[in-house]
Amino acid sequence: MRTDTGHVFKLEDYRPSDYLILQTSLVFRLSPEATCVIATLTIERREGVAASAPLVLDGDGLTLLGIAIDGRDLQPGDYAATPDELAVLKPPAASRFELVLETEIAPARNEALMGLYRSSNVYCTQCEAEGFRRITYFLDRPDILSIYTVRIEAPHNEAPLLLSNGNPVDSGALADGWHYAVWHDPFPKPSYLFALVAGALGKVADSFTTLSGRKVELGIYVEPGKERLAGYAMDALKRSMKWDEEAFGREYDLDVFNIVAVSDFNMGAMENKGLNIFNDKYVLANEETATDADFANIEAIIAHEYFHNWTGNRITCRDWFQLCLKEGLTVYRDHEFSADQRSRAVKRIAEVRTLRAHQFPEDQGPLAHPVRPRRYREINNFYTATVYEKGSEVVHMIRTILGAEAFRSGMDLYFERHDGEAATIEDFLKVFEDASGRDLSQFALWYHQAGTPNLTVSSSHNARAKEFTLEIEQSVPPTPSESRKRLMHIPLGFGLVGAGGKPVSYGDVEGATVEDGVIHIRKRRHVVRFTGVAERPAVSLNRGFSAPVTLSVEQKTDDQFFLAGHDSDSFSRWQAFNTLLTDALIAAFRQVLGGKPPAFAQRLTELAGRIAADETLEPAYRALALSLPGEADIARDIGKGIDPDAIFAAREALALAIARANWENFTGLYERLADKGPFSPDAASAGRRALRNILLDYLALLPEGAALATTHFRSASNMTDRAAALTVLAHRHAGSAEAQQALAGFEAKYRNDALVMDKWFQIRAGVPGSKTVETVRALTGHPAFSMANPNRVRSLIGTFSSANQTGFHRADGEGYRFFTETVLEVEKRNPQVAARLATALRSWRSLEPGRQAKAREALLAIAGTEKLSADLRDIVERTLA
Ligand code: ARG
Ligand code: ZN
Repeated sequence: MRTDTGHVFKLEDYRPSDYLILQTSLVFRLSPEATCVIATLTIERREGVAASAPLVLDGDGLTLLGIAIDGRDLQPGDYAATPDELAVLKPPAASRFELVLETEIAPARNEALMGLYRSSNVYCTQCEAEGFRRITYFLDRPDILSIYTVRIEAPHNEAPLLLSNGNPVDSGALADGWHYAVWHDPFPKPSYLFALVAGALGKVADSFTTLSGRKVELGIYVEPGKERLAGYAMDALKRSMKWDEEAFGREYDLDVFNIVAVSDFNMGAMENKGLNIFNDKYVLANEETATDADFANIEAIIAHEYFHNWTGNRITCRDWFQLCLKEGLTVYRDHEFSADQRSRAVKRIAEVRTLRAHQFPEDQGPLAHPVRPRRYREINNFYTATVYEKGSEVVHMIRTILGAEAFRSGMDLYFERHDGEAATIEDFLKVFEDASGRDLSQFALWYHQAGTPNLTVSSSHNARAKEFTLEIEQSVPPTPSESRKRLMHIPLGFGLVGAGGKPVSYGDVEGATVEDGVIHIRKRRHVVRFTGVAERPAVSLNRGFSAPVTLSVEQKTDDQFFLAGHDSDSFSRWQAFNTLLTDALIAAFRQVLGGKPPAFAQRLTELAGRIAADETLEPAYRALALSLPGEADIARDIGKGIDPDAIFAAREALALAIARANWENFTGLYERLADKGPFSPDAASAGRRALRNILLDYLALLPEGAALATTHFRSASNMTDRAAALTVLAHRHAGSAEAQQALAGFEAKYRNDALVMDKWFQIRAGVPGSKTVETVRALTGHPAFSMANPNRVRSLIGTFSSANQTGFHRADGEGYRFFTETVLEVEKRNPQVAARLATALRSWRSLEPGRQAKAREALLAIAGTEKLSADLRDIVERTLA
């Protein structure tokens, strides 16, 4: 484990390296405890660099066994090697030379899952961001692009399959039952894209013919026996390849494309050139074991990693500060893909819910950072919702500002101009400026400035003058180390809505540039006057979620109800209803705190019923509308003095009021939605299941509905319905005989299926209330649980600490004590996973004083521990700062 050195990396310190690595040839002799790695590097001194400049390579926990330059072994005084660095003190006078390094590593003891490690007897790698330096000494930075040739040797019986990046060029038998394979990748790439896989795996094969007629062999490798679970992933891969040709003109470039699923993986997946490595959770699926959400995630992540081939691999990042260059853009591309494959309207709402649930709290708390950060202590902590999701929203805004055509021209120019390069955000913005002739300098602040901007909006109508006025004021709240903010360019989608939902026409506009339904906010305050507006319209704001901002709108409740029923922009229509729900929940929270039973307007609960039954709306849309704002969302909107128990009570009360008001309507619908034909994971079928399952959630709140959940559970013919019913039973009827029975039945049936057991752990960790901390503590001893497996840890501990508000934030601090213990225990093996877990307390300052003090104690206990990893120390210290 790398302990913290306190070193802070700064963007302004970037400078090109003195040396380049033109060719990288690697030989691996695989063995669990002692793998020998021989690296032959063709090094070139950059022009203008003095011959005396030492060559300094990165390492991380390495043991150097041999070093030679141009065929001659180096003598001790010629170099200095520590586990973390290798310096060639007197490099040759010639500008180009060959350096041979021999290192030895122990994949079986690598529990951090970075570099070369073993996952269920399969050798695999994860090198992003800085894992390659755990394999050999290297210039382990993304602007060093090298051509790789990789030879892998292993015992044939242990590892019949030997894979690396690029195309296979040679293979054969060796003495003593060993064999070898050689791979060559013709595309220069940074070390973080290196990959190797070796083991006994089952294969699903297919092929794809590209637009220009080249045939690509596709392979998905899984644990033997699980091949039948890879069909959906393969289909998603072929659809992704086709879509990238159509939507972005991007064709695949190697003869083979391989995906390997492994069961121990720190993140979702990794885009290694020609050899993507996946967390098996995002590959394996059928209706019996995967939910509709799993299918959608698989489709999106397969696409995401594939799309990286152009946005990430062909054009990579100059340095890790530019991470959003590939991640934000690639998330944008996978969002577009899913929107095209499924329902665009539904997809957009889901994206915004995710952004608000994960990015907004980050941006509004101690871990806030710009989409392109300027400083980091540990880069692994910057694979965040801000870099990914907000990064994607920034690209979305560029598209809104430029329009579809100029955006596409800009993308074409980006690929043309920067192919084969390690680029920056400035390069990216420049292509759009050049393609459109627009000035994006103020817009660029979206990359440089942290924090969620807020727009305060009020409106007035002057019937006599036929003038409608919007007063809009922007503010960006201070964030850590950025107290003063500059004014942003915010593209605000809007609509003036008249009777029946019809757009209201207007004449001249003054006070801001308005084009194609977008107001360009650039100043602190705009007074935007629309002339020729005879009747007062309702104003629909941030249509399509055109900008990732919060809104404070002075709006009549009548207008909100009207928009929730009539807005022609489906996102904004959903938003209007969601705002009504949020407002009602906040009022109810205050009533609960004041000791009063919460009350809700009848027209709100009735509207819920009308939306549920509105056949003109897609079922998936109706399901999203009916799913109440989450407890954490409500907490964020309240802002401070959070008592999670009061929020929970308010939310339950609203759910019950909606269920009571709509009993007949909901039961009728619930019955009509029952799945008849065979299972299909398509979006429309998934939408019907989602609607039916949320109706079940409401109905089960009423005494008449309790039995329904049990029936639903027993008759379920797919995992979506089974898991939904089990959640209702376990969360709504915790401790009941029915819940106990269902949980036990599920456990007995799936005890040997780790990915399905993750759902069981999640459901149990999510049970609201004060008893769950004890349950979760006990479950860490469950035979299916393991502190060494990231999926297990995230399912049990991660769900408890970030998705169970009442359980985790138990008033006596027991949830936090458990959190401290487990974070420290996980950290011993896997600092990255521990650091991610530790972000669960990032909103601690918004809690009421009692919990706040206890949360602080928990964070201080971690911070006070000696020899913390860089990953964990960085998170806790920033959280406490
Ligand atoms: N580039 C990968 C993806 O988004 C994520 C890899 C993250 N790895 C890490 N160690 N933080 O597709
Ligand atoms: Zn990515």
